Amino acid sequence: MTVIENSKLTVVGAGSVGSSTAYAALIRGSARHVALYDIATAKVEAEVLDLAHGTQFTGSSDIVGGSDISVVEGSHVVVITAGAKQNPGQTRIELAGVNAGILKTMLPQLLEAAPHAIYVIVTNPCDVLTVLAREDTGLPPERIFASGTVLDTSRLRWKLGERAGVSTSSVHAYIVGEHGDTEFPLWSKATIGTVPILEWETDGHPRMTPDELDAIAVDVRDAAYKVILGKGATNYAIGLSSARIVEAILRDEHAVMPVSTVLHDYHGIDGVALSVPSVVSASGAVPIRETPFSASELGLLRRSADAIREVAASLR
Ligand code: LAC
Repeated sequence: MTVIENSKLTVVGAGSVGSSTAYAALIRGSARHVALYDIATAKVEAEVLDLAHGTQFTGSSDIVGGSDISVVEGSHVVVITAGAKQNPGQTRIELAGVNAGILKTMLPQLLEAAPHAIYVIVTNPCDVLTVLAREDTGLPPERIFASGTVLDTSRLRWKLGERAGVSTSSVHAYIVGEHGDTEFPLWSKATIGTVPILEWETDGHPRMTPDELDAIAVDVRDAAYKVILGKGATNYAIGLSSARIVEAILRDEHAVMPVSTVLHDYHGIDGVALSVPSVVSASGAVPIRETPFSASELGLLRRSADAIREVAASLR
């Protein structure tokens, strides 16, 4: 049951990521009402119609949408997916200029329509865009954050679970930092069940040597490039990740998730959005300051921060 009765999620952008997010939210029952908004009238109306045709099978959630900004009114959560997507081989950072412009244009209208909503930025590069959007809107950092490495963490847990032969829900490991090429796993506290990751064995043999973990980290970091090369975009897993974040907000779960908020005095990092384990609730996302980092992990976090800070500064 969602804590907010009659909850409304609006997904901005009816492209593959936005329509997959709406689809995932409907199937999971993430919100009572799901709205899909896009300026491309024919596209968004067709996506809404196609989704509505299946609502007999999706429980109590319903779907509305269109290209009029009034669609956004009354939203409790707004997930922003609109913007250019990566072409094969293109980095997320290379999308920064064009997507920062799109977001800057959209945000005033969205805030006027849904001034009290919590905003989740999925459009890439989501960390850079979150820094700029927080500045442009003046919203507190907990109310405008990015999906960040929730998706990358899901990829990591899938790879580790597959290797260890356990459910992903029993893999307690996080990808943190940039949702992008400088992301990294927090191996120092990763466990499977209560077993530290490096000590996990199968049939009495170690299954997670440092070299194997390094290879898994590279696979996770580069996963999107592989999928984009094969099918032109990623959409299902990011749609599910976004729907899961929405649920944690609307159900006031206080769930720990690696979303990306603008950090302040976080292990000495200030003013950049990075994914670290955070508490996600009806109030939004709050980083967990006590998250332990090894010295080398802190170095990697600062490298991620520098990468985001540099790109955000270039767009101001
Ligand atoms: C990915 C996109 C959402 O990692 O950045 O699939």
